[in-house]
Amino acid sequence: MKDWIVAPGAPLSGRIRVPGDKSVSHRAIMLASLANGVSRIDGFLEGEDTRATAAVFQRLGVKIESPSAQSRIVHGVGLQGLRGSVDALDCGNAGTGMRLLAGVLAGQAFDSTLVGDASLSKRPMRRVIDPLSKMGARIDSEEGGLPPLRIHGGQALTGIDYTLPVASAQVKSALLLAGLYAEGETIVREPHPTRDYTERMLSAFGWPIEFEPGFARVRGGADGRHALRATDVSVPADFSSAAFFLVAASVIPGSDLLLEAVGMNPRRTGLLQALRLMGADIEELNVRKAGGEAVADLRVRFAPLRGIDVPEGIVPDMIDEFPALFIAAACAEGVTRVRGAAELRVKESDRLATMSAGLRQLGIRVDETPDGADIHPGPLQPAADGSTRIDSHGDHRIAMSFAIAAQRAEAMFVVGDIANVATSFPGFDSLARDVGFGLRDA
Ligand code: S3P
Repeated sequence: MKDWIVAPGAPLSGRIRVPGDKSVSHRAIMLASLANGVSRIDGFLEGEDTRATAAVFQRLGVKIESPSAQSRIVHGVGLQGLRGSVDALDCGNAGTGMRLLAGVLAGQAFDSTLVGDASLSKRPMRRVIDPLSKMGARIDSEEGGLPPLRIHGGQALTGIDYTLPVASAQVKSALLLAGLYAEGETIVREPHPTRDYTERMLSAFGWPIEFEPGFARVRGGADGRHALRATDVSVPADFSSAAFFLVAASVIPGSDLLLEAVGMNPRRTGLLQALRLMGADIEELNVRKAGGEAVADLRVRFAPLRGIDVPEGIVPDMIDEFPALFIAAACAEGVTRVRGAAELRVKESDRLATMSAGLRQLGIRVDETPDGADIHPGPLQPAADGSTRIDSHGDHRIAMSFAIAAQRAEAMFVVGDIANVATSFPGFDSLARDVGFGLRDA
């Protein structure tokens, strides 16, 4: 098992670009594969999750070249051009990969099996199985709606009008992708708007779709009347990866760091609002459009933070950023309250439980509730002899969050089970060291 030894380093400084957006990279591979013609993807995330998605489409008969790191040339086979695979399709650690693929594969003529790693095998899939079944899909799962998923091909799908019970871009996207294969229209309504990359990209690939925050309506293509047209995609830097450095520079005295070309889709930047409410000093510079998405350079400087009640309305816009926010809260003045975040319990780990347990090992009081936590800040005090080991439970974002905590801690400690950082942020360790982190392999 891979572990890190983490300890206070230097104030953070420099100018860095974090890797490409995970959500956009998954979707770019999928839509380019289903398009007619050749698409180029630049800024592709070379993470294990997104590479797993590309490998799945290669298994399904799509030629995908990699002329250089972070670039892919995808030879689309058209909506009906995928070929079945007798072998199971491995989504690795990626919930996004598995749920969106379930939507695509529900509409195929052939059978498929989707499998994942130990963490993904414990994540709920009923949230996609139920609405896809309403559209006419046939999907078998393990007890409790868990992977592997066995998707029966050759089913005629019909569009539905579905209101999501939980805010989930993955579920919305699975239904929209299945909707491409359906008869009639598929409408998805959301209790709170979520990231709209699938909608924006479908539109960029020339598919008839209408959408606004909280609503999407896609025309079915079962009659072969519509096609996806190959389109080049430029992937912005992932806000969720930038988030670790936004928090780190905010809490490490003397820091002044610039993050280049960060994706600023408003459905992703809730953490920016939360940190600003806490008193963070983050400037948006050179705001521009790149590949249809807003991007900005973010300059972040140390500032004393104060605890807040995180507004529930922004929870979906920062759903992946709570592990980092918990560290900011532990380093602030006054209690931070999180509520309305029960979804954190079904991420790569139960993030409310893993963050609470790890912070308690550092002497921080965390009162957990079913859908949140109260974080009482204080000095971060691992065992003085370096014997503290915080288990990330194989969750990439937990591992990176405790690497930040270490920069403010009174002694070194170990972050355990960190290999999955490569699912979303390959090279985090060296980039972190370059800007000042104390971090090395155990
Ligand atoms: C994602 C949606 C979110 C997010 C995940 C990526 C996506 O999951 O947590 O990291 O790319 O659609 P949910 O749909 O489960 O909220």
